Order: sequence, then structure tokens, then C-alpha cells
Amino acid sequence: MDQKIFIKTFGCQMNEYDSNRIYDAVKKIGYEKTDKYENAHCYLLNTCHIRDKAKEKVYHEIGRVKKIFRSKNKPLVIVAGCVAQAEHEEMLKREPYIDLVLGPQAYHKINDTILNYQNEKNKQEETEFDAITKFEYLSKIKNQTSKISSFLTIQEGCDKFCHFCVVPYTRGPEYSRPFDQIVNEAKQLVKNGSKEIILLGQNVNAYNFENFRLSNLILELEKLSGIERIRYTTSHPKDMTDDIINVYKSSKKLMPLVHLPVQSGSDKVLNLMNRNHTIKTYLEIFYKLKKINPNIEFSSDFIIAYPGEDENDFEETIKLIDEVKFINSFSFIFSPRPGTVAANFPLIDKKKSMERLEIIQQKLFNNQINMNKKLENKTIKALVENRTDDKTKLFARSEYMTSVLFNGSDDLIGKVVKVKIKNSNRNTLFGEAIENQNQKVA
Ligand code: SAM
Ligand code: SF4
Ligand code: F3S
Repeated sequence: MDQKIFIKTFGCQMNEYDSNRIYDAVKKIGYEKTDKYENAHCYLLNTCHIRDKAKEKVYHEIGRVKKIFRSKNKPLVIVAGCVAQAEHEEMLKREPYIDLVLGPQAYHKINDTILNYQNEKNKQEETEFDAITKFEYLSKIKNQTSKISSFLTIQEGCDKFCHFCVVPYTRGPEYSRPFDQIVNEAKQLVKNGSKEIILLGQNVNAYNFENFRLSNLILELEKLSGIERIRYTTSHPKDMTDDIINVYKSSKKLMPLVHLPVQSGSDKVLNLMNRNHTIKTYLEIFYKLKKINPNIEFSSDFIIAYPGEDENDFEETIKLIDEVKFINSFSFIFSPRPGTVAANFPLIDKKKSMERLEIIQQKLFNNQINMNKKLENKTIKALVENRTDDKTKLFARSEYMTSVLFNGSDDLIGKVVKVKIKNSNRNTLFGEAIENQNQKVA
């Protein structure tokens, strides 16, 4: 059987990881990955529900697929991911072009569901939460990702129920994968050529498998000689325990960029959001880490114009940004999500919200620009991932995840290279590879 599958992925890195694992799984029933969507026999949308009109976007996307395949055979259409989980009851009824609906904890059933559909034309939705079985199943299928920097999901779901967030409803309760299962998968990724592992979870620092925590996992993974760099995302301040903070003292491979979403600089707003931490505790984490290594930098997520945020609260967020000098962050206006506590809270005026977002983003962008400017004429270490699309330059990442472009040969791909930075803009550092590898590195 020569069947092709195309997956369009929306949302977070966990969806990206899932899409790669779906490609690995459906190989077993004869589906090969294709990047040419118009040739696909199976078109899968891996969806995200976090903001805006997520549901409508999916139906819009299905409309596009219909158009693409107007004069061809209809592909098997699968909707997976967080919108599938949230909206499964109405999807098959509302849009007959959809054949199968699969929630994020049901991917172990994908092959049976597809085969069943092929044999019986039975439209199906699979949306129960069964993370244990999912990962047991996926761990028996080789992870074929062969990127220099690879994602590895170690934890799924969330029990925190922030009032704005759909994740506890779409991904289910917190679940940590068995320690050995993760180490084995990391070894496979190293065999495939990965040099950097990015550990993933909706609350990755809540990882706890039989009292093995994220800190234990980082120290275990760095024993693998093929691994050059370790990162993890995304964390909650409440789970940033001292063992994780102290791992920055002992680890040689953990990168000095801490992505620690704070959402707001105001305790009042944090309380309204049900975040369960204060700015004081957030700053304690920041200063403990800075004391361990002053080169550690922070990035974050911000929700602007959360219901109840007044001018004073907004000023406090600005104050926090000035204090921490986040080098790279995501910021969005609050988007009411169906089924969450904040869904029906009175919204802040749209114009005011936009004004606040622009001020915050300008500040965050300036931090990014300043950070990159500081690196000009310095030598940094960059892990080379591949070539730029136009093939003219090597594409690498700094320790802080910033893109680094420079001239060089393909044999540098997969290596950590010293690069002297000549120039920069907000998102990119431009440099030259250093011949003399003994030069001082920033
Ligand atoms: N678990 C992480 C934490 O607690 O910080 C966040 C995971 S969530 C998938 C990623 C980000 O989406 C959040 O940090 C938040 O900034 C943003 N987000 C979630 N719900 C949102 C909403 N209703 N409106 C705007 N942004 C939202
Ligand atoms: Fe969402 Fe993160 Fe809050 Fe969980 S901790 S509800 S994933 S924002
Ligand atoms: Fe979106 Fe689900 Fe990730 S809602 S951000 S794809 S966990």
C-alpha cells in the first residue's frame, strides 16, 4: 500500500511532538509522511484550543481542504488535538467531511481507528483520557525524529486550573511518563543524531515519577555522551523547587535560558487568575538562579488585559519586566475560553487592551534587541541545526535559543561552534565561525 499522510500542526511544541509520533505510528499501517498536502490520502489537522476562535479556525481549515481536493479523491480527514477534545461531540455532526476525531490522549488508537474506518466506513471519535496506555503504546514504536534539536514529551496534562486556561480540559490530569521510558527514548533520539533534547510538558517541572523529578531526569540525560544541550518547557513557578534550581549548579548541559511564564506582574491579577503564586515568590526564584549563574536569563508568557486588570496592575507588569529584563517572551490579550472560570468575566475595552499589549510588546522587543546588541563583537557558542532555506548560510541557535546565521560548510551541522557576532537584529545574530577555538566565549 502506498498511502501518504499529511499533518498540519497548530499550537504548542507538544502538538509538534505528537504529530511526529503520529507519523511514526501510522507507518505501521502503510502511511508515509508527505510534505505535499495535495498528494495526501490522509489529511490530519492537529489542532490547538488555547486562544481566539479556535473552533471556527478548524472548520475554516476543513473548507480549505475541501477546495484543495475538489477535483480529486477525498482524503481521509482526521481532526486531532485540543479542539478535537473540546468539541468532539458536535464535530462529526456539523462537518460531514470530517471522518475521524481523536483527542490528544487517544493516539494509541489511531491505527485501529483508521483501519476500522477503511473496512466499515465507521465514523468515530476517540476522546477519553488514557495517557498511560498512549505512552506505553508509543514507547514501543521507534521515535524516528532525526533533527539536531528534538522534542521529547515527559509529562502531559494539568491539575492547576488557572481560570483562563483550557489545557486541564483538553489534555486531562497531570501524568508523568516512566523515567526509563523517557531515557530510552532519549537514547533513540541520540542514535538518530539529536544533539539537543527539549523536554516537554504542559507543566514540565511538575514531573514526578515515583519521586524522580525533572532535576533527576536532567542529570540522567546529560550522561548520554551524544547530547550537547538540554532544555525544558513549559514550567509553572509553583513547581520551581530547589532541586530544579540547584540543578543549574551541577548540570553542564542545561542551557541558561529559563522559560517561566508569569502571566502578570500584579498579585491581585495572579489571584484572579488562580495562579497560586505571588510576584515575591517569582522573584525569589529569579534571584536564586541569578546567584547561581548571573548569565541565566528569563523568558515568559504574559496575558494582557485580564478581566480586573487596572492601570495599577498593568504598571506592576511593566515594573516586573524592567526588573527581570525577560529576553524573549510571548504576550497575548486575554481570550475568553469556553468552559473556563473566566469565560464570562467582563472584558476590558478592546482599544485599551491593544494599547497595553503594544506597550508591553515594545518593552519586550527592546529587551530582545538590547540582549542581542550586547553580544555584538563577542564570541558565543551556537549549535548548528541545518542550512537556511536559501542554502546560503548555516542556521544555528545560541544558548538563549536566538537564531545565529553564518557561513560555513555542512560538516559543522550538529556541532557546537564558536561564532563571533558581527551584527544583530531583534530575532537574529549574524556572525562568523571562529578559526581559533581557544578564544574567550561570552
Ligand atoms: N503551563 C504553562 C503555565 O502555567 O505557565 C502554560 C501553558 S499554556 C499552553 C501557554 C500560554 O498560553 C500560557 O502561559 C498563557 O500565557 C497563554 N494562554 C492560555 N490561555 C489563554 C487565554 N485564555 N488567553 C490568552 N492567553 C492564554
Ligand atoms: Fe493552563 Fe499552565 Fe495554568 Fe495549567 S498551569 S491551567 S497549563 S496556564
Ligand atoms: Fe494548544 Fe493544546 Fe498546546 S490548547 S497550546 S495544543 S496543549
